[in-house]
Amino acid sequence: MKTMNMNHIIQCGNTLELIKQVPIETVDLIVTSPPYWAKRVYNGEGELGSEGTPEEYVKRLADFFDVLRPYLKPTANVFINIGDTYFGSGAGAWNKYLDEEGNTTQVLKERKEKYYTLKPLQPKIKQNGKLYQNKQLLLIPSRFAIEMQDRGWILRNDIIWHKPNRIPASVTDRFNNMYEHVFHFVRQKSYFFNLDAVKIMGANGKMKNPGDIWAINTQPLSGTEHTATFPERLVETIVQCACPKNGIVLDPFLGTGTTWIVCEHLSRNCIGFEINPDFFHFAQERFNASTSQMLLNYDPNN
Ligand SMILES: C[S@@+](CC[C@H](N)C(=O)[O-])C[C@H]1O[C@@H](n2cnc3c(N)ncnc32)[C@H](O)[C@@H]1O
Repeated sequence: MKTMNMNHIIQCGNTLELIKQVPIETVDLIVTSPPYWAKRVYNGEGELGSEGTPEEYVKRLADFFDVLRPYLKPTANVFINIGDTYFGSGAGAWNKYLDEEGNTTQVLKERKEKYYTLKPLQPKIKQNGKLYQNKQLLLIPSRFAIEMQDRGWILRNDIIWHKPNRIPASVTDRFNNMYEHVFHFVRQKSYFFNLDAVKIMGANGKMKNPGDIWAINTQPLSGTEHTATFPERLVETIVQCACPKNGIVLDPFLGTGTTWIVCEHLSRNCIGFEINPDFFHFAQERFNASTSQMLLNYDPNN
């Protein structure tokens, strides 16, 4: 595989600030995975994903993409991978909750039935017997997609990323979650899309559309605290069909740098921003290791 020495802009900081240096209407594709609501603490208080309610999160996330919108070419594509959250103690990080004074505490079972919080940083949410009920799947991805539609984005696909290697959870009163959503949005009705680049072989020997359920194993990374990394194959499929060769891909939540590495492999330029310095440095090391591997495989005659 050749390395094409693309022009990447990779910076550590807040995307909402760093994006201002990017010329308007130059980005061909956004492919990204934002922090999910109430799942992880990446950076601390006020960060995206730590909002007091799912509704606030959905609005803030849609606001984020509204800020990025002018930087996209009118023919651009946006692919956003987003996962869901259960309300209540079943959501892992929800085990800690706050007392009336806002202190993290272990409380009696009856109070646990009444109040839940996601992590010490977040305000408690009182159960309301409607959306906010213990065990409720909150449908955050769908709420987000509808909010984006209401703001004028056109939703072209709701791709199901099926994770065949997902380890079964210990739940006994529902099915184990095995997928996440990847939403495909566009700004206008005509946009760049190279379906031929990602067609797969059909049973009749003819190439066919791969469809909207993608079975791709998760790809854990060693050497980082980051546990929500993209598998490279997922990003490859998106980049191949949704960004022209030598085009510009933006990942506003770069994390451990998966999009950057895939862009280098596939001859696309990457703009990647990551607010967490540890993840940023890990991404740099990962990219350097990956490109030296590419150079080892470099065949000038191929
Ligand atoms: C779900 S992770 C992305 C993982 C990434 N797809 C990968 O393969 O490693 C979300 C990332 O967004 C970063 N982040 C959150 N808010 C940000 C912001 N305002 N600007 C830049 N990065 C941000 C977090 O630190 C976190 O690393």
